[in-house]
Formats: sequence, C-alpha cells, structure tokens
Amino acid sequence: MPLAANESTKPNDLESFWMPFTSNRDFKQNPRLFVEAEGMHYITADGRRVLDGTSGLWCSNAGHRRKPIVDAIKKQAEVLDFAPAFQMGHPLSFEFASRLTQMIEGFDHVFFTNSGSESVDTALKIALAYQRARGQGTRTRLIGRERGYHGVGFGGISVGGIVGNRKQFGTLLNGVDHMRHTHDMEHNAYTKGEPDWGAHLADDLERIVALHDASTIAAVIVEPVAGSTGVLIPPKGYLQRLRDICDKHGILLIFDEVITGFGRLGTPFGSDYFGVKPDIFTTAKGITNATVPMGAVFCRDGIYDAFMDAPEGAIELFHGYTYSGHPLACAAGLATIDLYRDEGLFERAAELAPYWEDAMHSLKGSNHVIDIRNLGMVGAIELEGIAGKPTARAMDAFKQCYDKGLLVRTTGDIIALSPPLIVEKGQIDFIADTIGDVLRTLH
Ligand SMILES: Cc1ncc(COP(=O)(O)O)c(C=O)c1O
Repeated sequence: MPLAANESTKPNDLESFWMPFTSNRDFKQNPRLFVEAEGMHYITADGRRVLDGTSGLWCSNAGHRRKPIVDAIKKQAEVLDFAPAFQMGHPLSFEFASRLTQMIEGFDHVFFTNSGSESVDTALKIALAYQRARGQGTRTRLIGRERGYHGVGFGGISVGGIVGNRKQFGTLLNGVDHMRHTHDMEHNAYTKGEPDWGAHLADDLERIVALHDASTIAAVIVEPVAGSTGVLIPPKGYLQRLRDICDKHGILLIFDEVITGFGRLGTPFGSDYFGVKPDIFTTAKGITNATVPMGAVFCRDGIYDAFMDAPEGAIELFHGYTYSGHPLACAAGLATIDLYRDEGLFERAAELAPYWEDAMHSLKGSNHVIDIRNLGMVGAIELEGIAGKPTARAMDAFKQCYDKGLLVRTTGDIIALSPPLIVEKGQIDFIADTIGDVLRTLH
C-alpha cells in the first residue's frame, strides 16, 4: 500500500532490512518503532512515551537529543563534512584525542574507530604489533574469558565467550584461549555491588600460562564489568589479581570499556572505579553519547613510542578506518565530554548509585527472580528460565515492559538495565515498579 505523505516515518515494507541481533520474523509480525527521542524518553510510532531504561544500547549516557551535541554536529556538517584520515588530517581529531587523554592519567595516545567491535579488533592488533615491536614476536596468543562480549568482528568473537555469537561462524582466530568467567550464583547471588567471593578466579590465567607458556601470550582481554552477557560484576580484588599476573608474565592487559567507559559506574572509566590500570582499553558508545558512531582505543604511555623506531617515513601501524576520527564524530564527542563535565553526570551517577541499588534489590522475592546484581548505574535481574525455552520468559517481560512504557534489555533470561545518567529518582522508581508489576503476572 502506498504511503500517505504524513506517514513518512512509518515504513510500509519491513522486509528488506535484515535486523541485527533480532528475531526478524517475530519483530516484523509485531514491530516496535521509535520515531523520536528526548531526554529520558523515546516516542513510539503510535505516539507513546517509553522511558529509556537502557540508554538505548548502553550508549546514550547523557540522555537523548541533547542540544549542545546536536548543535555541534549540525555546525560541523556545515563546515567540514569529511577529511581523509590517512596521510591527512583535520584539527578536531587531534583536539578530541588530546582531550580524551586528559580524562585519564597514564594513557598518552588514542586510536579512533567507529564502533566497539572495531575498537576491540584494533586493541588486539595493537597488542600483537606492540609485542613484535618490542622484540617479543612469539607472543601471538590472545586470551579472553567465557561469557565475555567483545563485539562481532572476528577478533572480538574469537576472544569473546558467548556461544551464540561463535557457533555460526566456523573456527575463528587460532591461538585463542579463555579463562573461566567470574559469575557464581552459589556464592554471590543477590550481592550488592562487588562480590566478596571470587578473587581467586583470576588464577585461571596462571593455568593458561602453565599450558601455553607466557612467551606465547600477547594479551588478555576482559570487560571490567561484563555487560551484554548479563551484568557480571567482578569479585573484589579480581581485576587487581589479573593485573598482577599479567605483570608477572609480561602479558598486556586490555580492558573492554565499551560499556563501562564514560560514567556508567560513576567514574570516567571502569579502571578509575576499580583502581586498576590496564595497558590498553577500548571505548565506543558513550564517547559521542551515541549520536555519531565512534570508538577510541586508549594506549598507556610508552606503547605508541615503541612503534616510533620504524624507519623514517614508514607507516608505523598498518591499520585504520576510512572514518577514523570522522569530523562529525569528533565534534559530537567534544560536545559530549563537555556536557558530561558541565552537568557533572559522572558524579551524579555515583550519587544515584545507592538509590539505584536499593531500587534494584527491592525486586528480590518477585516472581521467577533468582538473582539481582548491580554496580554504578547498571543493574540486572536474573529470572529462572522456562524449561526447554531459554530466553522466552525474559523476552516476554521485555515486551510487557515496553507495552507499559519502559524500555529494558534482555540477554538470556536476564533483564539488564542501564538508564541515562540524567535519570531522576522518580524515574528509577518507575523502572522498579513497572518491572515489579510485570513480574507479578509473568508466566
Ligand atoms: C564490552 C563491549 N565490547 C564491544 C561491544 C561492541 O560494540 P559495537 O556494537 O559498537 O560494535 C559491545 C557492545 O555492546 C560491548 O558491550
């Protein structure tokens, strides 16, 4: 059927778009479309307001359609739409990189990408090339962790540990191994914040070193808080122990901060929250408040320098993207970090975190709930799955929340929450109340 002129925001054909990480057939029978967003809310195609309980996909940390960011993008588009990033430059990418390095001590260079997945693959490649540059070329193995999510590139799914993201795609990268994950309901169910039990799980890295020998291992990559796999909070001391083991064996430690970066835990980065510095860390999402796709890989002092012994005029790192440091992304990013600073959003997240924690744990005892976890402005409510139908119960909860005006995210049978850092206490109550209502009648 042809569209009427005033219906231009409603697609008349849902078929052509192959939707990512979506049950296409299910969605297309009963589509959920957002056509507008502002602050804490989305507006649906049928004009309903939906409170964003997930910052989009863990990315709109300052809320939606924020004017300073929108204005910066518009202004930049009118001045310089694109400039090549190879052997050429434009001032904003240098300015933004320098501002980013000022956000954290000890990281003197950033490499720009366009997504979390690209940041991960970039970090892995820098790690391998760095080991070579410092004369440790036998270090070619990459170590990830079970239940890790590092995006969808071949590097990311190889070090990642989510079976669904791996099994369709063959044998992946060679020379990858995985530590065991840190989630243990028997010891840690319903822990508020970081669990006391489990620092020793980092010793699994020693097992892997004993198997392969440290001289073959380039880097270990973990999310400080595993997000997409259902919010797995590291046990107290775990990350420091990983750091110590990496130092002992000359292995680089990479933190994937695509979710924990830019205020999610109430600090600029997850490494600030935990007081543990990696060698390299990845970011994306909140770097531009999700307005223009972008990622950045931060490298600690000395890593870039190790590449600078290459012959004069040589390209030191054979890696990059057409859109590395895109002018619109840099303009958006600069406006975003100014907004985070001017509104004190990271501090606000830290202040709200105890209220958030209480709201999350108020759902203890609700129908089907088997665990609740939280840290900073992240929360997860784990439901008991329906026998033989994994994910179905949480998906049902997701749809019912949406009908009641709340966007949540589900992964497996876990409801994961990460509202924009501008969320008000009343809206936190709404999130908990709505989920509570849904659970009351959920089958
Ligand atoms: C920790 C982590 N790494 C990487 C990614 C991939 O990011 P993108 O979807 O932008 O490629 C994600 C996305 O959720 C993530 O959570």
